Amino acid sequence: MTPEKPHIVIAVDGPAAAGKGTLSRRLAEHYGLSHLDTGLTYRATAKALIDRGLPLDDEDVAAKTAHALDLSGLDRSVLSAHEIGEAASKVAVMPKVRRALVEAQRAFARTMPGAVLDGRDIGTVVCPDALIKFYVTASPAVRARRRHDEIIGNGGEADLASILADIEKRDARDTDRADSPLRPAADAHLLDTTEMGIETAFEAARLLVDTALER
Ligand code: C5P
Repeated sequence: MTPEKPHIVIAVDGPAAAGKGTLSRRLAEHYGLSHLDTGLTYRATAKALIDRGLPLDDEDVAAKTAHALDLSGLDRSVLSAHEIGEAASKVAVMPKVRRALVEAQRAFARTMPGAVLDGRDIGTVVCPDALIKFYVTASPAVRARRRHDEIIGNGGEADLASILADIEKRDARDTDRADSPLRPAADAHLLDTTEMGIETAFEAARLLVDTALER
């Protein structure tokens, strides 16, 4: 009989454009795990409301929409628009919306052989018992530059100063909200990518995961 493989959950949190998405995808690929960008669940909820002409500030309507969300249909190319990110951070302050989405995120985390989840509250709320937790951050200026270069790289137009202002506004909304604010879990490993390339961050994370797996 082959020994049972352990169920692994890796939690990756941090502010917008810190590099957590890329790091999470790399970790999921390396360890053969599923990956859920939980930001997409908030984005999809916001987009569904906008598409149906529904208000973004009615908690019961937003929670009903969040409950009906199908995680298998999340399409990054459709949901990555800047305005959807803004709208997402507005619905994300509502406790009933969070409860509905956290339930779906936890169900995703339970699937075998395990998963990498990235977001704002994975290590603190969604998966407090994760095998290992990372908090990925970088200075606002560096994050704004990355987002700017990404948009330009995709053939779009971008203004660095307004991207920086938006990042700072979103950080404040995510950090200051009462329910599940953005903050590192007490046992999270900090990865500051201000001067570190994503490859270096991945190598550092991989070593830490390997060590946690040996324990
Ligand atoms: O990460 P992303 O920019 O796609 O997230 C969009 C918004 O969704 C964030 O600004 C945040 O307000 C919200 N979010 C959250 N909790 C998560 C993931 C995202 O509140 N776990």
